[in-house]
Amino acid sequence: MGLGASRVESISTSMIRKMFEMAQKSAGKEIISLGLGEPDFDTPREICDSAYKAMQSGYTHYTSNFGIPELREKLAEKYREENGMDITSENVMVTVGACEALMNISISLFEEGSKVIIPSPSFVGYYAYTGIAGAVPVHLKTSLENGFEIDPDALNEVAGRDIDAIMINSPNNPTGAVIPEKKVRAIAEIAEDNDMWIISDEVYEKIIYEREHTSFGKYYDKVITVGGFSKTFAMTGWRVGYVIADENIIDMLLKVHQFNGVCAPAFAQKALVDYVGGNLPAVDDMVREFKRRRDLVVKRLNEIDGITCSKPYGAFYVFPRVEIGGMDGYEFTMKLFEDKGVVVVPGSAFGPGNENHIRISYATAYDKLERAMDLIEEFSEENK
Ligand SMILES: Cc1ncc(COP(=O)(O)O)c(C=O)c1O
Repeated sequence: MGLGASRVESISTSMIRKMFEMAQKSAGKEIISLGLGEPDFDTPREICDSAYKAMQSGYTHYTSNFGIPELREKLAEKYREENGMDITSENVMVTVGACEALMNISISLFEEGSKVIIPSPSFVGYYAYTGIAGAVPVHLKTSLENGFEIDPDALNEVAGRDIDAIMINSPNNPTGAVIPEKKVRAIAEIAEDNDMWIISDEVYEKIIYEREHTSFGKYYDKVITVGGFSKTFAMTGWRVGYVIADENIIDMLLKVHQFNGVCAPAFAQKALVDYVGGNLPAVDDMVREFKRRRDLVVKRLNEIDGITCSKPYGAFYVFPRVEIGGMDGYEFTMKLFEDKGVVVVPGSAFGPGNENHIRISYATAYDKLERAMDLIEEFSEENK
């Protein structure tokens, strides 16, 4: 027997982690990391206080596998009122972050050989979840010229190939693209015509600028919606996410979740009950600051000869194309780190066809971003 099962061996260690570790090892050198996908803000004070109270009042044990009833109720209410979905708390299951939700969905829904459309570029996790479940990824390229939005015509062509599901993420990691309502409806219609599940990862729904967020679950029944609090409240370390789906799907997901995540931390669940809709001034401040940074980064990158960057409407990433000195995105990333100490992630980490791109996360202080843009400009000049 080999070291590991082949379905796990084929999964690559996240390039983002590798870049992060590389940066950590460079003690003494000036390093600016634009690599990681987490807000650089603190979890709002109100939530920390609420968690502390919850711990003191005994929320330190297992909860129901479904999550605490108050949180499920509040989530159902939010999705009915804000997202236009016809659901009750029975349609909600709380998970250990969105990651656990996505893994459980893949394991529960897919058979060996199930065909799953993964738009490229995509969140790196989608390849791992589907791979572990034995599903086959069907790539659907999105492009910088279209603002990285899924093109319904292109989807229509691929959807005819006996597809089981599509994984969609809007607002998007790594591009920041937000699918407008009209396209959400068109995509939902295509899914319905082809009897295809939509797994809609909406973890960035609150980090959005000029556009409104639209949930696929508003227009189609065979949608499994995934959400979480990691990004909205800068609480990546607390590990609370959730799934919204048909009750039969929730029951099926529970079979895996009961032995996998078991339950999200009890005090974290309780702390969130009053803040489910993201209704805190700290969130508005954070989003305003992200927008200011996005404007800086998009402007500065487009001023550099050989870099083209679309303007994203959500999340905290840009995914520019780099055409500098014949380097692909990987070579650009490595040399930029060596020469200037700026950490970005090569586009190839996010799926095929992205070799000439890099991902920049602007979840970093404004002055650091200004410095990083100076260094990228210098680097691009020096390597023309
Ligand atoms: C698109 C996307 N989905 C899911 C996650 C995972 O979020 P969580 O911390 O809730 O597990 C991330 C984290 O980076 C993400 O970018």
